[in-house]
Amino acid sequence: MKGAIFYSGQYGSTAKYADWIGVATGLPVFSIEDSYADPTKYDFLVLGSSVIVYKLTIRKWVTQNLAKIANKPIILFSVSGAGPGAKLDKWVADCLPKTLVSSMQHVGLRGRLDMNEISWWLKLFMRIGSWKSDDPEVKKHELEGFDFMDESSISPVVEMVEKIQSSRDLAA
Ligand SMILES: Cc1cc2nc3c(=O)[nH]c(=O)nc-3n(C[C@H](O)[C@H](O)[C@H](O)COP(=O)(O)O)c2cc1C
Repeated sequence: MKGAIFYSGQYGSTAKYADWIGVATGLPVFSIEDSYADPTKYDFLVLGSSVIVYKLTIRKWVTQNLAKIANKPIILFSVSGAGPGAKLDKWVADCLPKTLVSSMQHVGLRGRLDMNEISWWLKLFMRIGSWKSDDPEVKKHELEGFDFMDESSISPVVEMVEKIQSSRDLAA
């Protein structure tokens, strides 16, 4: 039962979570940008995706590779400012095919936003977004950034991987 991690991120936090999960599970880690990364070689997949403007950055890769991945067990970890909840579930449901959403498992992890790493126009975009935000915590994050990186938060993903591996080993 071979698995692999495929991730999509921009500023390093999704890559960091993918590496932590890779070390904890022993699964190989691929960026979706790697041209040699081939999901057909694996029996199950852990997909990692950042959320940018309410969208999963891995959504196009999923659509392009749907035929190759649709019948495999899939665990998705999303990385965002917002924590797990209805808002995040809706963003995931809006970005991925219904059949995939209903069959996969999802864990919402919280990432990092360093205002010094983003372009001036994104800073401006976030500032404008903050004017519209009703939630004071979201407003603060949009103006000042945040750092919720937490290695221990990967444990549900690691447990899901171990469960898939042990159930398939028993069936073999
Ligand atoms: C332009 C921009 C838009 C973002 N939009 C959202 C969003 O809609 N919802 C959210 O929860 N987090 C949002 N975030 C926060 C990111 O999801 C968070 O910084 C994440 O850790 C980024 O992952 P990465 O470092 O792998 O790129 C946004 C960040 C940026 C820079």
